[in-house]
Amino acid sequence: MTTAAAPLLSVRDLVVEYIDAAGDVRILDALSLDVYPGEILGLAGESGCGKSTLAFAILRLLRPPAVIRGGSVHFAGQDLLAMPEDALRALRWRDISIVFQSAMDALNPVLTVGEHFEDTFRAHGRPAEAGRARARELMTLVDLDPVNLRSFPHQLSGGMRQRVGIALALALEPRLVILDEPTTALDVVVQRAILEKLVSLRARLGFAMVFITHDLPLMLELADRIGVLYAGRLAELAPTAALAAHPGHPYTRGLLHAFPSLHGSLSEVRAIEGTPPSLRSPPTGCRFHPRCPAATAACVAENPAVRALAPGHLVACHHAGEAAR
Ligand SMILES: Nc1ncnc2c1ncn2[C@@H]1O[C@H](COP(=O)(O)OP(=O)(O)O)[C@@H](O)[C@H]1O
Ligand code: SF4
Ligand SMILES: [Mg+2]
Repeated sequence: MTTAAAPLLSVRDLVVEYIDAAGDVRILDALSLDVYPGEILGLAGESGCGKSTLAFAILRLLRPPAVIRGGSVHFAGQDLLAMPEDALRALRWRDISIVFQSAMDALNPVLTVGEHFEDTFRAHGRPAEAGRARARELMTLVDLDPVNLRSFPHQLSGGMRQRVGIALALALEPRLVILDEPTTALDVVVQRAILEKLVSLRARLGFAMVFITHDLPLMLELADRIGVLYAGRLAELAPTAALAAHPGHPYTRGLLHAFPSLHGSLSEVRAIEGTPPSLRSPPTGCRFHPRCPAATAACVAENPAVRALAPGHLVACHHAGEAAR
């Protein structure tokens, strides 16, 4: 992975709104980020900050009342937002796949696991024979006995279903795999085993990953770079080591301090005070200002632009990089 290469995925100024009777609610506000070939980009931020919305918007899988209002999403030079639906359908799964939070969402209860693979191959014009052999290979790849190809989803444990979801996501050897909290429902040991498996597969198969999880320590361990979202905006984006060592945004610092294993002793642990704002009536200026220990009048008045604190280290904070903050 090198950020000198051209990005595989480029999201620029993406705006997503939910339309409802009380007015439009802006869920993503001019969000921009890149994903480079072969890298693992982690997305962090409290519940409701827009991580899933971003994942779904990239693949144009958002459902009404959510709509993309502006911006662009380019994948390997192609404009995904302008692409006709049938071309996009061919690209989904073949080039970009997604593993959902609940594997049950991705699996059809009346189809066997094997039939899921057959459907996937058939939908993309691959011969059934090759598909069957590949399905056995993929099951082995995620440490499942191919005998489970004959099982229905409900006959498998949660961990096994999630592995099936991952095997399906890798079936057509996509260049980008999006993982939206793929293991939250599983116990920690299974969770870690599955993610470590994915990381080793990434090293072998070379796909890039966008990795969304609540488990910040795990993200710090696995991700090459981390993007932090707050209330629909990018707060910070940096290589993992730089983000952990020199977080530029007070919200990132808060997230890091909320995990005892990362910073200091247990007695120093504190969650970020307050809760994320309602997106129906977000705070003026910097949306983090009501919770920010470093807020000034400028923060209330003006939305901080995203700027580079160091090469490759982006931050949206008026006071990032100032001493004693
Ligand atoms: N169907 C919906 N109608 C209105 N608002 C929604 C809907 N679904 C999600 N939201 C809002 O969109 C915001 C972003 O949600 P989401 O992308 O799911 O966040 P995350 O994945 O980071 O937890 C949240 O404020 C959530 O309340
Ligand atoms: S811009 Fe101001 S309120 Fe926002 S994070 Fe920075 S210091 Fe805090
Ligand atoms: Mg989510």
